[in-house]
Amino acid sequence: MSIHIEAKKGDIAETILLPGDPLRAKWIAETYLEETFCFNKIRNMFGYTGLYQGKPISVMGTGMGVPSISIYAHELITEYDVKNLIRVGSAGSYQKDIKLRDIVFAMAASSNSGLNTLRFNGADYAPTASFKLFQKALDIAKSKNIAIKAGNVLTSDEFYADNFESYKKWSEFGVLCVEMESAGLYTIAAKHQVEALSILTISDSLISGEHTTSKERETSFKDMIEIALELT
Ligand code: ADE
Repeated sequence: MSIHIEAKKGDIAETILLPGDPLRAKWIAETYLEETFCFNKIRNMFGYTGLYQGKPISVMGTGMGVPSISIYAHELITEYDVKNLIRVGSAGSYQKDIKLRDIVFAMAASSNSGLNTLRFNGADYAPTASFKLFQKALDIAKSKNIAIKAGNVLTSDEFYADNFESYKKWSEFGVLCVEMESAGLYTIAAKHQVEALSILTISDSLISGEHTTSKERETSFKDMIEIALELT
């Protein structure tokens, strides 16, 4: 047991899917995995291990934001020997041609979070995806005929920005979309020399103001989850 996870050693697979919402983790486990058991209920941050096409895989919620995902990633890696951490999340589009329900692979994660400024004494660190997982995910998407976009994303500390227009600077510099966790995940994975990838589905657009409904989010999530599950 670690501070925030009550699993025993060996309960968690080498590869884990990480949605922000713990109920999404439950849904993924119930929908896709066999011989499933729940390894964590602390803080209702549900975590499950099961088999996908005969191979062990885990899925667990991370909560929202860099501090929350950083705590779980740290404990999963250092206490449970997890080697492949795959975020499956939602994001808001910063570009006209990134539409609702599109899938984005985060090659890199820019951020306004203070965590890396603190860690690197004010210098910039560029958190990036695992090349191995990125390349494999591309191959899987291609084989399933699922179109994806890939590039730089913004990991933001704020969901409700005081200055709505602030997104335009990131947009001008080619950032595809905004979410709240990838820079934290990539940094912790790099620190411990393990693999991480964020796969995101666009749930809203800051350009058009559109949002997906919760029903639409569920169905559009499926392509992303199916790519992630095949990364085992
Ligand atoms: N996740 C999904 N949409 C988002 C947004 N607009 N801002 C931050 N995180 C998000």
